[in-house]
Amino acid sequence: MAVVAVYSVKGGVGKTTIAANLAWFSAMVSRRRTLLWDLDAAGGSGFLFGIDAQKRAAAGAIFDRDAEPASLIWQTGYDRLDLLPADNSLRDLDNVLTRIGKKKRLAKLTDTLSHDYERIVLDCPPVLNEISAQVMRAATCVIVPLPPSPLSARAFEIVAKEIRANTKRPPPILPVLSMVDRRRALHLQALEANPNWPVIPQASAVEQCAVRQAPVGAFAPNSPAARGFRQLWTAIERKLTNG
Ligand SMILES: Nc1ncnc2c1ncn2[C@@H]1O[C@H](COP(=O)(O)OP(=O)(O)OP(=O)(O)O)[C@@H](O)[C@H]1O
Ligand SMILES: [Mg+2]
Repeated sequence: MAVVAVYSVKGGVGKTTIAANLAWFSAMVSRRRTLLWDLDAAGGSGFLFGIDAQKRAAAGAIFDRDAEPASLIWQTGYDRLDLLPADNSLRDLDNVLTRIGKKKRLAKLTDTLSHDYERIVLDCPPVLNEISAQVMRAATCVIVPLPPSPLSARAFEIVAKEIRANTKRPPPILPVLSMVDRRRALHLQALEANPNWPVIPQASAVEQCAVRQAPVGAFAPNSPAARGFRQLWTAIERKLTNG
């Protein structure tokens, strides 16, 4: 079992979009039993699959009251792809994790889920606190989406440094240029400066995910965006299997 965390200290960089789409490719193309776990109280991942868990408000209980994760997991309607959605009870997650004082609580929980899932994709909130520290302890690898700019390499280094400063054994970190528009000079510059980084294009097909409440691979499988997610997932899968 491998835990793929999609994380950045910055908001609005495409974490939820990438997490949801990667999880879909994991399940549908790599045919892995996959769990998408939304750790952000905003609940974006659930929304992208048309699942509204806010009424239940129980996702936080997994961490402090030993609620069974299995009882909160939803089927997405796609084979092999399940979702552990977020809800308002996660607003307090940082405090809960600090209070219970178990540094590997999230890692333990993902371990127990390894009986049922081969891949767990974490959609993380843009924070640097006990939640992100626990994510780093649980993650097999960390995907960091970066909007293209001449500063993206620097932005990546800042995230990587923060992660190193907050974990004893930081997992491998993979930068991804997200929302890339090849018509823009600054974006081209970022592409040239980081030729080996995977790329997710800025695309209306990606925006449509939120309208259709479906991953792009499900309704526009041949679009450049779907190709971007597929290539990114394939690169991750290769890293996970070959080390
Ligand atoms: N490749 C893309 N092309 C076009 N729009 C995109 C792309 N990626 C993300 N978006 C849009 O950008 C917005 C922010 O994306 P998303 O919610 O995935 O970011 P996030 O990093 O999870 O944000 P937050 O920090 O608030 O959780 C959304 O409206 C999403 O539809
Ligand atoms: Mg998000």
